[in-house]
Amino acid sequence: MGDAALLQRLKGRNLLEPGDFSPDECGALFDLADRIIKDPAAYEARAKGKILAALFFEPSTRTRLSFETAMLKLGGQTIGFSEAQSSSAAKGESIADTVRTVGGYSDITVIRHPKEGSCRVAAKASGVPVVNAGDGGHHHPTQTLTDLLTIRREKGGLEGLRIGVCGDLKFGRTVHSLIRAMSAYAGTEFVLISPEELRVPSYVIRDIKRGGCPYTETQDMRAGIAKLDVLYMTRVQKERFFNEEDYIRLKDLYILDTERMRLAPESMIVMHPLPRVNEIDTDVDKDPRAVYFTQAKNGMYVRMALILALLGLEVE
Ligand code: NCD
Repeated sequence: MGDAALLQRLKGRNLLEPGDFSPDECGALFDLADRIIKDPAAYEARAKGKILAALFFEPSTRTRLSFETAMLKLGGQTIGFSEAQSSSAAKGESIADTVRTVGGYSDITVIRHPKEGSCRVAAKASGVPVVNAGDGGHHHPTQTLTDLLTIRREKGGLEGLRIGVCGDLKFGRTVHSLIRAMSAYAGTEFVLISPEELRVPSYVIRDIKRGGCPYTETQDMRAGIAKLDVLYMTRVQKERFFNEEDYIRLKDLYILDTERMRLAPESMIVMHPLPRVNEIDTDVDKDPRAVYFTQAKNGMYVRMALILALLGLEVE
């Protein structure tokens, strides 16, 4: 099936978890993102008259601003809030009621919420497509679109890659989504690097097994670095810890610095969903293998592609 037909299939859909779109559908989105990157001016009026609502009940820089910028670059407009305190959630309104109401004002609704599964509840109540921009420590599918577009552009494809994921694999929703998505590509192998307390949850291991991907779990960051194609660093998710002491004990266990980068292959790329706290030394930023700021920019382009597809506006 060609890209146009695959994109047509996305019209009106929700994106709540990475598996909601097939690898073929994602491929069509990435092709569209590539076309947008090549010629952004061709898309500047595609979403004229459309409104995107960004409902952020949790802090965000990249996800919210890249969604909003994506809509503005397509000629559309945005509404929304960036903290729960400034919405009627502070008065006790349910997410279902908020989203149902906002769906009456907008053409697409993007939600970030601290509760796992909240976006699914929201999607049931919404009259317009809902996109999960992060639900607690669960999933973050548009970060994954960003990550896969970046891997595809940097490595030339998504198959046969050995991916190291390092840091907070328990609470890191970007990790859970990345692993689920990459498990669907042939030849993926995972090296999961975390302290015992922050290992990936069992539902993520199930995703890996379902994909038949080989994986190893280790606490040693140096262990597999020499053989990786991608090293995906993450911060320890402070806001999901129950006690401060545990956070302080675990937060600086893995720090990628120039010395460790010397152990890595020339062709390996370093990714990070950002924000970074301490886990990548800023000296690494100068290394051409560090692609995290490019990755953040790709997020805007892939969100432009996603908005066009969900709204059925990708007509050539
Ligand atoms: C991530 C998130 O919110 O889960 N940030 C992002 O969206 N780029 C990662 C994080 O906060 O650590």
